[in-house]
Amino acid sequence: MQKKLRLAVLASGSGTNLQSIIDQSQSGALDAEIVLVISNNPGSGALERAEQAGIKTLCINHRDFSAREDFDQAVVAALKSAEVELIALAGFMRIISSVFLQAFPQRIINIHPALLPAFPGLNVQKKALDYGARFSGCTVHFVDDGVDTGPIIIQAVVPIHADDTEAALAARILEQEHEIYPQAIQWIAEGRVEVEGRYVRIRAAMHSEQILINPTS
Ligand code: GRF
Repeated sequence: MQKKLRLAVLASGSGTNLQSIIDQSQSGALDAEIVLVISNNPGSGALERAEQAGIKTLCINHRDFSAREDFDQAVVAALKSAEVELIALAGFMRIISSVFLQAFPQRIINIHPALLPAFPGLNVQKKALDYGARFSGCTVHFVDDGVDTGPIIIQAVVPIHADDTEAALAARILEQEHEIYPQAIQWIAEGRVEVEGRYVRIRAAMHSEQILINPTS
């Protein structure tokens, strides 16, 4: 059997993306093993979900550090000692410093609840609704030194409905996040992903021919 990719998940919130990765990993659909879950938030649901699944957890509270780099240094040390090969940020509400990036070049990925490069940053469902966009979605990308700017691995598109609320749109997007994040991790685990500048090449991936129009007549 092929050796499983040693994965760490970093999360600050409720951890539904973490849960989808745990579920896929437990069902054998993922050639990755979550060896560590780190949260900066002691009350995060992600820590609870990981504990329930018997995964090693660590809470590193950013409030205990005066500089971002010192916090990142502590996170990097934990990841190195767990011999982590890939880091998935899943609702991790901290900006990554160069200390962290340089320790794991092209080994950090993130999920963002919008179709990048549209609507980076925070409160993105509100931004998409306020803009009057007809579609939004989610993006899995490598992390670089910008905010939500790294090379894109996979995206899913969802329609925006005329009577949408932020919560309804967020839920529709989240459902797709739970599909595409494990998929991206699996491609990386299979060694099929290569980054060439901004372009991410995925060997033998099926490319969609689907064209979406919204609204329709
Ligand atoms: C997700 O929408 C993710 O895209 C964003 O933060 C949210 C985290 O949700 N970065 P959860 O904690 O995985 O439920």
